[in-house]
Formats: sequence, C-alpha cells, structure tokens
Amino acid sequence: MRIMTRRVAGLDAVGWDGKARAEVVEVFDALAPEWHTRSSPQRTAVVLDAFERGLGGNTVDNHVAIEVGSGIGSYSALIANRFDTVLSVDVSAEMVRHAPAGPTYQVLADSGLLPISDRSADAVIAINAFLFPHEVARVLRVGGTLIWVNSSGEETPIHLSTEDVVTVLPFPVDGRESRAGAGTWCVLRRTG
Ligand SMILES: C[S@@+](CC[C@H](N)C(=O)[O-])C[C@H]1O[C@@H](n2cnc3c(N)ncnc32)[C@H](O)[C@@H]1O
Repeated sequence: MRIMTRRVAGLDAVGWDGKARAEVVEVFDALAPEWHTRSSPQRTAVVLDAFERGLGGNTVDNHVAIEVGSGIGSYSALIANRFDTVLSVDVSAEMVRHAPAGPTYQVLADSGLLPISDRSADAVIAINAFLFPHEVARVLRVGGTLIWVNSSGEETPIHLSTEDVVTVLPFPVDGRESRAGAGTWCVLRRTG
C-alpha cells in the first residue's frame, strides 16, 4: 500500500492504471467484511480533531464534500455533520455493500475519475485513502479545503507526510497540520 500510495500521488514513476485498480479492488473487497473491526474511539478522535482544529468554526462554505476512499463509511456520518451534501466514493463494491445506509450519497467510483463536475467541491476528504492530486485539482474550488487524515500517523499503510501532500498538489495552499494521539492530519485551503 505504501508503494501504491506513492504511485497514485505521482511520487513514483509508475502511475495508476487498470491493473493497479484491479489489484487494489481485490485487496479491499476481501477486507470489507472485517473492516468494521478497525474502528475505534481513538481513530474517530483523529478525524474529529482535524475538523475541530483544522476547519475550526468555518461552516459558511461547507456545502459539498467528497469523501474519497470512504470504505464502509466509518467516518461518513461525522463528515455529514459538517457538510450539507456529501458524496462518499469508493472503488470497492464490497466496501460500498458493507456500508450502512447513512446521511451521505454512497458512490461506487474511482477517485482518479470522480463523477462530479469541475470546481464543484468545497472540500475533498481523504481518511487513510489515496490522493489523486490532479483529480483533486479538477474538482476542488479555489477557497475549498483538502482534509488529509492518517489515523495511525506514520504507521498508516496509506500515508503521506504533509510535505509530500503539498508537493504533489498542483495548486497553492495554506493551512495547518497536527497530531492527535497516534494520528496525523493536515487541512489545506486552496488559495489559487
Ligand atoms: C485504507 S481504506 C480506508 C477506508 C476509510 N476511509 C477508513 O479510514 O476506514 C482505503 C479505501 O480506499 C478505497 N480505494 C482504493 N483506491 C480507490 C480509488 N481509486 N477510488 C476510490 N476508492 C479507492 C479502498 O477500496 C478502501 O475502501
């Protein structure tokens, strides 16, 4: 997953393709039935901290959020508390099938080709999920926010440092990063 994370982000020469997608889907389809065992109050606290300290009291422009790599929706309800409309996108049919019906739209799709129009998102939220920098650039409006969370910090299989995230994004940002327990997060506002 480390290698794939860097490939997807454009930090490795080999990128994302159909073969990579098939491999990833196979892995996560198999993990879907037991994915709920990975939830914990500590992991939830990392996401809440990113929202509370990263977004702060900013609720004015929190209309449309895209949750990429949403899995079984462990954090979807938390996201729905902050945004009016949330698309929870996952490429694994089994993950989507195991997600309980909730307050977000669950979409089976590839985050590398999001089924939404240009600059239509106020936020893109990636919790332990791959970062497709150019697709984020396409869908996130200027002034919108990328929320990047690694529940187990540097030990998270799908992990990038804030420095790597900022490096691969093809647009300028400002924002903040922090730690919460074992987790790490950064909340980056698109400035141009
Ligand atoms: C490590 S899990 C994280 C799930 C959830 N965010 C969580 O923290 O519990 C990564 C998720 O990303 C999904 N995923 C992987 N590649 C994807 C892609 N290209 N597009 C959408 N989802 C993808 C996987 O199917 C899996 O559900």
